[in-house]
Amino acid sequence: MMGKCAVLRIAIFILLMSTVASCKKEASLEDKTLEPRAARLEVPGNFPVVKEEIDNPLTLEGIELGRKLFYDVRLSGSNRISCASCHRQDLAFTDGIPLSNIGESGKRLDRHAPALFNLAWAEGGLFWDGGSKNLESQAFGPLTSEDEMHQDLYVLENELKQVPEYLRQFKLVFGEDVKSANVVRVLAQFQRTLISGNSKYDKYRRGESGIMLSDIELLGMNLVAAKCKGCHTGELFTDNGYHNNGIDDTFSEEHEGVFQGRFRVSFDPLDIGKFKTPSLRNVMLTAPYMHDGRLKTIDEVLDHYQSGIQLSPSTDILLFQNRGQVGIPMNANEKAAIKAFLASLTDNDFINNKKISNPNL
Ligand code: HEC
Ligand code: HEC
Repeated sequence: MMGKCAVLRIAIFILLMSTVASCKKEASLEDKTLEPRAARLEVPGNFPVVKEEIDNPLTLEGIELGRKLFYDVRLSGSNRISCASCHRQDLAFTDGIPLSNIGESGKRLDRHAPALFNLAWAEGGLFWDGGSKNLESQAFGPLTSEDEMHQDLYVLENELKQVPEYLRQFKLVFGEDVKSANVVRVLAQFQRTLISGNSKYDKYRRGESGIMLSDIELLGMNLVAAKCKGCHTGELFTDNGYHNNGIDDTFSEEHEGVFQGRFRVSFDPLDIGKFKTPSLRNVMLTAPYMHDGRLKTIDEVLDHYQSGIQLSPSTDILLFQNRGQVGIPMNANEKAAIKAFLASLTDNDFINNKKISNPNL
């Protein structure tokens, strides 16, 4: 039998050892963090390869700093809204309303806030018309737009410099003081880690044990592959391209051409009315739909493709599936199957992933 004292001594010894161990760990962490540590994206097994961003290499510290800034209201002029005000994790980083008016001017935006995920694969441009080339330049848009965050970039730099933790983190990641060019770089790094690839469908595709799609989901999968192909294609369920899916037949020039779609960027008349194909992943979370959020439900979307398509010179040829006439034929059973399949694309791990949630909560 061990005496009480011996037990106590052993306990103290273990306690001492564990504090020594944890001190050691902290010390070595400190050493390492003098240099930012290279990071890699965790690419789901069924996804295409991802292009590495040579000009803005991912680091663990850069991603973490970007995450903090994404959720920080200091990024807006009045310190009232953050990126996450319009891009909410529980909604796959969209906002659940057609056209937001929470920006600094209080004016209603012309476009709906898209969901944000799998942006590391978004090679054809960002925004509904591809008006922004990459995530680094994209963030300047909402930051400075008076209808969104209306922030003066010099004021922003100064505000962030007031926060010792930010000062330390920017130094560590970039070896220099807070610069707005680096703010957008870390925001981009964080946003590249918003990878959604763990829905039931993904697990089924990767052959994970015990995961099967039901008959109706499988039917829906085949229907989507047959009827929505060319646009909502591949494992990302988007071709990263621009199409006119027939929600309008006239495209006003007002508001600097935002209603004319891709034409605003390419000036090619054939691009009038074309918008970027959104992914079908997580669509059950991302209502309302389309670039202006005009359709409230998936039923409305399916009805649109079946019988609501409006004709104009750029209406996509892929929409003529009705014996050469416009429209995508779908009976009630087929619509139900498509909806069941779309629901299997919901990634609950993504919307609950703590690594990408608000670090201040
Ligand atoms: C007031 C609401 C609002 C705020 C705040 C906001 N966004 Fe957005 N975001 C939008 C809207 C609306 C669009 C679509 C604009 C367009 O296509 O013309 C968009 C588009 C985007 C896109 C393009 C996605 C794609 O697939 O093309 C990214 C990336 C993005 N926002 C990131 C951010 C970041 C980072 C911040 C913070 C610096 C931010 N947003 C702040 C509303 C907002
Ligand atoms: C010709 C290409 C094309 C085809 C075919 C097509 N879509 Fe689309 N889809 C688009 C484009 C482009 C948009 C965005 C249009 C806009 O906002 O103006 C879109 C938008 C959507 C949206 C809204 C997503 C969001 O986040 O707002 C859903 C849902 C959708 N399509 C489902 C389908 C389904 C289901 C099919 C097949 C039955 C289909 N689409 C066929 C190109 C296509």
